[in-house]
Amino acid sequence: MDNIDARIGAARFPFPIPFGWFSIGRLHELPTDLVPAAGESGAVWAFHAVGRELIAWHDGDEYRVADAFCPHLGAHLGVGGRVDDGCLVCPFHGWTYDGTGANASIPFSDRTNAKATLRMYPSDVSDGHLRIWYHPDPAVAPMWEIPGLIGDDMVRCGSADWTVGAYWQEMAENSVDMAHFVSVHGTPALGEVGHVVDDGPFRKVVNKTVYSTPRGDVDGELQVEMYGPGTSVTTFTLFGTVSLLATTTPIDDGQCRVRFDYFHDGDDLSATVAAGFAKEVDRQFEQDVPIWENKRYVASPALSQYERPITEFRAWASQFYAAAP
Ligand code: FES
Ligand SMILES: [Fe+2]
Repeated sequence: MDNIDARIGAARFPFPIPFGWFSIGRLHELPTDLVPAAGESGAVWAFHAVGRELIAWHDGDEYRVADAFCPHLGAHLGVGGRVDDGCLVCPFHGWTYDGTGANASIPFSDRTNAKATLRMYPSDVSDGHLRIWYHPDPAVAPMWEIPGLIGDDMVRCGSADWTVGAYWQEMAENSVDMAHFVSVHGTPALGEVGHVVDDGPFRKVVNKTVYSTPRGDVDGELQVEMYGPGTSVTTFTLFGTVSLLATTTPIDDGQCRVRFDYFHDGDDLSATVAAGFAKEVDRQFEQDVPIWENKRYVASPALSQYERPITEFRAWASQFYAAAP
């Protein structure tokens, strides 16, 4: 077969949605009625992520995330469903589900039904995001945790969001694609992939790059730390420290929601650098989008002699794909 399948409509990327932790939104952007006021019940929120129709509710203690369809006769629990005493109530026949997804009650019956179990997704709140663990096999518990990544002393200074018709791996590969920084983004010289540490689902890359500043070209360091396929922190050190928390959430096959949050270390100069950094990174991201949205994955690429880091990145990324059970 040809190395690149150029037939119209052929798949652009050969792998399924990866497993890992994925942000489903910043806490302050979730529906305001999701978390219940004292003595009341919150709402049920319906949304799409990881190729699935999902719902979230808050049982008074924590967020709960589940598949959207009732295991009784298939009603969408996010359309007319409600929360009562921490349990989710289906709008169709009133069956209820507790925070573990187990059937808690059935109207006109003194029994519950063990077969009526909602698929739940472990969730976690950190760095201002609500994250869920997704694996195609519901029996696979979270295989790693994501620690709090942004220190309390860091000051939030901006954000940006995009929905991109592309795949997580294709976007993340740009972190080690040094040539594109020159040809797509106009950086003044070819950078170098410096130190790389692969540690299971975590990966740290320190790139040396040249920045064009009003004071001329300056050597800088850009550190990218990846925490599985859904979360990374890019730390930019020039005059102070600026961090970018980036989350990438597959919505369906071929579409991702990308959220950027910028932070600086509180210093006045860092605040100025952060504003310029955010503007430049957002600009570069938008320059990459038309490439990502139209390219096809080349399984056996023709690489130049300095592009070995791309092969190494792909080897690391390959650990996040599992066949559906
Ligand atoms: S479909 Fe949900 S209770 Fe019947
Ligand atoms: Fe780029």
